[in-house]
Amino acid sequence: MRVVLAVHGGAGSWRVDATTLATVKMTIKQALEEGFKAYHSGSSLDMVVSAVEVLENSGVFNAGIGSVVDLSGSISMDAGVMYRGRAGAVAYVKYPKNPIKLARFVLEKTDHVIIAGDAADNIAKKIGLEPHPGPSKKVLELYKDYLNRIVKGEAKSIPYPKSLAAWLSLGDTVGAVALDRNGDLAAGVSTGGVFLKMPGRVGDSPIPGAGFYANECGAAVATGVGEYIILTHATFRIVEDICKGKDVQEAVGSVLKSIDSVYGSGVAGFIALDRFGRVAGLYNTHAMPWGFITESGELRILGI
Ligand code: GLY
Repeated sequence: MRVVLAVHGGAGSWRVDATTLATVKMTIKQALEEGFKAYHSGSSLDMVVSAVEVLENSGVFNAGIGSVVDLSGSISMDAGVMYRGRAGAVAYVKYPKNPIKLARFVLEKTDHVIIAGDAADNIAKKIGLEPHPGPSKKVLELYKDYLNRIVKGEAKSIPYPKSLAAWLSLGDTVGAVALDRNGDLAAGVSTGGVFLKMPGRVGDSPIPGAGFYANECGAAVATGVGEYIILTHATFRIVEDICKGKDVQEAVGSVLKSIDSVYGSGVAGFIALDRFGRVAGLYNTHAMPWGFITESGELRILGI
């Protein structure tokens, strides 16, 4: 069995009703099926971008349409992709519905790695990307609910960052890793960041080696509290360990364990894939919906 594409919908509490659960599983399946379409004629970059696009468009996850809001009630998103030794990322963008497409543009059409803020939004407009419709009803309700809790004295301060992740029923960042027929690996991530973050805050998702990393040995993507993921260079370490011969499961496990020992549990999750198509998905939160599809089309959904 050689896994060619794995995706996740974010680490979090995921204490949701049965209908939402079914939607989450169905969306993970759709992302895998859509991404897999590129397997026969496209690259691993095509696979991760189309899978992440499905997750961004679903409104189910904290990315694209479903992005959470900051303290001021506004959306700002980060995304990144890596493939064949190059990375492209966007930080603090507000315009595009699909930041992953803009990250791909940075990778393929510029000499840079990260483009941020208004300048990135202007590129999105110029290249004709679809605009974001604004925060979803579900996200605005969560925001209003939290403000009400503050007014009622039930929430005295912003429980940022760790307990907030546990409080949220939503997951975090979405991501995908893929291996194509040429043996090239790719990683892609997209996120609305952390709920109630300070305006201007940028997380791990646009930073190669933190939120995502891919080279000739392996590919990994992260979800969870971005500050901890940045400080631990998490995905770079996972892929480096794979390069040094560690099994992919062990490589993810040891980085997660080291995060756990410094920052405690309930803060992060990862999926990773090596050049042989061996996959791992591990998290220290209550759940992390993820799944994979193999060369033969076998599809599995796990983590929830
Ligand atoms: N992992 C997403 C973020 O912290 O922004």
